[in-house]
Amino acid sequence: MTRAVIAGSGSEIPPTRVSNAMLARVMDTSDEWIRERSGVEARHYVERGTGTSDLGVVAARRAIDHAGITPADIDLVVFATMTPDHFFPGAGALLQAKLGLREVPCFDIRQQCVGFLYGLQLADAQIRAGLARTVLLVGAEIHTGFMPWTATNWEYMLGRGDVPPTPEEFAWNTRFRHLTVLFGDAGAAVVVRATEEPRRGVVDSLLHTSGAEYDKLYVPGTGFKHRPYTDPEQFKRGDHIPVMDGRAVFKMATTSMIAASQEVLTRNEVRIDELSLVLMHQANKRINEYCQKALGIPDSKVLHNIERYGNTTAATIPLLWDEAARAGRVTAGDLVLLVAFGAGMNWGATLVRV
Ligand code: UT7
Repeated sequence: MTRAVIAGSGSEIPPTRVSNAMLARVMDTSDEWIRERSGVEARHYVERGTGTSDLGVVAARRAIDHAGITPADIDLVVFATMTPDHFFPGAGALLQAKLGLREVPCFDIRQQCVGFLYGLQLADAQIRAGLARTVLLVGAEIHTGFMPWTATNWEYMLGRGDVPPTPEEFAWNTRFRHLTVLFGDAGAAVVVRATEEPRRGVVDSLLHTSGAEYDKLYVPGTGFKHRPYTDPEQFKRGDHIPVMDGRAVFKMATTSMIAASQEVLTRNEVRIDELSLVLMHQANKRINEYCQKALGIPDSKVLHNIERYGNTTAATIPLLWDEAARAGRVTAGDLVLLVAFGAGMNWGATLVRV
């Protein structure tokens, strides 16, 4: 039977590291609040002009090298992002051109924080169906486009300018602080390959969506419900910036991630002690600690990197995977549980045998 294995991974972290204290220059927040409530200590931002496809390309090149293949081997691309370079086409086509791939199909998927797990299920299904043998799966995001700060605020925050925000700008920036402090930019990729080896590859993917609560985390403006789809009034209202009911999302995330983990483990008759590693979406360290405790997973089996990168949406799980793989924490025979929750609402849990 053909199965899909993760054969290599790569990631790209943009150069500009921004600490919590730097954010506090342009809004009413503090290092203490951000660390305590979310676990984030810093995040990285791209410089103006970099697109999500650019982060994806660098990460993909590293994943291709790591897998020991060439770009010519790739016969399918799946690009998961909620922050594409353009409204259309998606980032997959741009990545295909920049990497010089053959004219292979490129899917763009937008399941936000669960994009990687949805993409992995798609890659697995394509491989099992015999439609592809080598899939490039990318998760990348540039959240800086959501940030409400003016160009002058940016310079001041980064320590490159000496004009502080006006009181009105400071108040405007503070309105979005519960959201903006959490996110960072990053790209990560994996190469998923067909194998006929027994007992390896994606064991099972469990995916769920519930659109009923979509408005707990969404972008109210700049969509085609509006005519025109974007206009200055929407920007004046701040409708281009996501709305997030943090407490509601926190509750849904913990409930769903615990339930999905238990469901995928039960239906595959896997016990917690048989898992080598659990990689959870990095939205809030407290969410993950809560889930870890409820599931009874020891600290030694859980990796976090939210303190360094913040929430990088579709990139969080492949980024963790890449760090784990390069640190020798992902080795042949290991059973790894991947679990995520995000806007949609979407959530899922995937079991992978390395
Ligand atoms: O990838 C999936 C997407 N997102 C998530 O999973 C997010 C899930 N939710 C969360 O992570 C948390 O709800 C947050 C980190 C967003 C917020 O933490 P919280 O403990 O739920 O805080 P809260 O929203 O209840 O706010 C508590 C207080 C409020 O002040 P008052 O009303 O008590 O005076 C907020 O105004 O904290 C204030 N606050 C802040 N203070 C300083 C909110 N954001 C900030 C901030 N700095 N950045």
